[in-house]
Amino acid sequence: MMIEERSRQGQRRATLLPFAVPDISQLEIDAVLEVLRSGWLTTGPKAKEFERAFADYAGVRHAVALNSGTAALHLALDAIGIGPHDEVIVPAYTFTATAEVIRYFGARPVLVDVEADTLNMDVGAVEQALSPRTRALIGVDIAGQPCDWQRLRGLAESHKFLLVDDAAHALPSTLGGRSVGSWADLTAFSFYATKTLTTGEGGMLVTDCAAWAERAASMALHGISKDAWKRYTADGSWYYEVIAPGFKYNMTDIAAALGLAQLGRLEEMYQRRVAIAAQYTFAFADMPEVEPPTIRPDRTTAWHLYILRLHLSRLRCDRAEFIRLLGAANVCVSVHFIPLHLHPYYRTTYAYTAEDFPIAYAEYQRAVSMPIYSRMSDQDVEDVITAVRQIVAANRR
Ligand SMILES: Cc1ncc(COP(=O)(O)O)c(C=O)c1O
Repeated sequence: MMIEERSRQGQRRATLLPFAVPDISQLEIDAVLEVLRSGWLTTGPKAKEFERAFADYAGVRHAVALNSGTAALHLALDAIGIGPHDEVIVPAYTFTATAEVIRYFGARPVLVDVEADTLNMDVGAVEQALSPRTRALIGVDIAGQPCDWQRLRGLAESHKFLLVDDAAHALPSTLGGRSVGSWADLTAFSFYATKTLTTGEGGMLVTDCAAWAERAASMALHGISKDAWKRYTADGSWYYEVIAPGFKYNMTDIAAALGLAQLGRLEEMYQRRVAIAAQYTFAFADMPEVEPPTIRPDRTTAWHLYILRLHLSRLRCDRAEFIRLLGAANVCVSVHFIPLHLHPYYRTTYAYTAEDFPIAYAEYQRAVSMPIYSRMSDQDVEDVITAVRQIVAANRR
């Protein structure tokens, strides 16, 4: 049994390779320490500086720093006034945050299927899902590869709905040479611990519309009128007015200092991900049992995720067993995503069956996210490739 198991899994790394590790250098540590010593911990000058720097980076007029990407999505829908009778189109192949924010308003998330190659929402399926109630669409740039925003813009203009980009994975990514952040009406980024830029937890909402940005900034701090954060500063005032029942979504200066330092290192961290992805794709190219990601020629991806797909008909093991064998080789992997319509909440609320979104369902069953992060060494990358090669060789049909 032991010998058979060894031959199926191949060589084992000496230590466990985590799925994701944040890249925190002395720069980030110093920046956070400076804030801790400054006497100002919550939203203040660092958060404002981060917003300005981020807006410039993304090539947009306004950025609102928040405590999560989910908050950014929520405030995007709030800014455009989504109501209980509205429909918002989302891909089935995403994380629940994309759709749950629609439910916060009592509105309906209308799921659509995805393209088999990019795993991004299928524009043809979007067209079929349009109804007189369609008020907005949230596109997700899965793994970092931008959606087909040019075609989505065309549909949005002819059918009068707004575009929100869930760019939780897409920093930095481009479409047609232009950064993600400037394609949709509003764009939400996430700085969760596994993301390409992290503030531990955090997010940023960007837009060119001053009124939406102002509304989001106010709703992020209890719906208090302008510059609520200043009320404890010398140039602030004790007087404030509540203009709506808002939320508590503001980003702390501690997190913003971390974000600013990370933004300064984003290009360097991104280039490391690009190199790792290239190494994987080169190595997997001669294995017909697996399929590396397809990146369309008009786009670049942030490589937040490297989703390898298995050709299950060429393997004697299923995806769960493949993941177990990688784990036994000390390589941690994950799955992105379990399509929304398979989860009990969405399945039962909207009476979905697995086959309602056949591409999302089929691709999910063969998807494995490989470790990809800037702190991986060349040896780590080699170990992942070796583990995949050996498991494929031992389980080839
Ligand atoms: C596609 C997608 N959207 C939104 C989010 C939510 O981001 P956050 O965890 O910062 O709230 C995530 C988080 O992982 C995500 O993967």
